[in-house]
Amino acid sequence: MRPKVTPTNVEKVMREDDFIVSKTDTRGIITYCNEIFIEFAKYSNLELLGQNHNIIRHPDMPRIIFKLLWDTIASGNEINAYVKNMASDGSFYWVFANITPVYNEKGSIVGYYSVRRKPERRILDSVIIPLYKQLLAEEKKYPTSQQMTASGNMLNEILKEKGVSYEEFILTI
Ligand SMILES: Cc1cc2nc3c(=O)[nH]c(=O)nc-3n(C[C@H](O)[C@H](O)[C@H](O)COP(=O)(O)O)c2cc1C
Repeated sequence: MRPKVTPTNVEKVMREDDFIVSKTDTRGIITYCNEIFIEFAKYSNLELLGQNHNIIRHPDMPRIIFKLLWDTIASGNEINAYVKNMASDGSFYWVFANITPVYNEKGSIVGYYSVRRKPERRILDSVIIPLYKQLLAEEKKYPTSQQMTASGNMLNEILKEKGVSYEEFILTI
């Protein structure tokens, strides 16, 4: 079960050489995480294993980013995304995540693998934080059932205006 955590304004910044690694099954249940994951998430290995990856979900994250994430990886592709995560003490940490499907020898997806590194402050401040605020505010205007259509349309419009796909956008900021 997801513990009740109240977010604080305390940020923990990743170091240049940090890699935060986790693996999940096909439903996003954590099956592995490395020491740096444990350090940032501030849960023990035992508390993390078997939990849904949303255990570190931060309420500032727009739901549409996770929809995009799941749609992309479940269809067999990798995704790169900026994610604000929340530790067990309510503190937060930004990551730049790469998530890829893991295949078995028959070619079926058996889980997912994620490696996160330190995001550039400039990109967070000038692009990602304002974008996520805008998407979240759009979602908050609607009941849950309509939120992702609304923020999805907004995200598509923003990308269309820039003339790029999500992937191009994220890799060229
Ligand atoms: C390999 C992998 C890594 C993930 N990493 C994160 C993460 O670091 N933070 C996060 O909030 N969600 C992460 N997710 C997405 C969560 O599974 C979940 O969709 C998200 O937290 C939103 O929660 P919800 O689906 O319950 O709304 C990851 C999923 C996978 C498959």
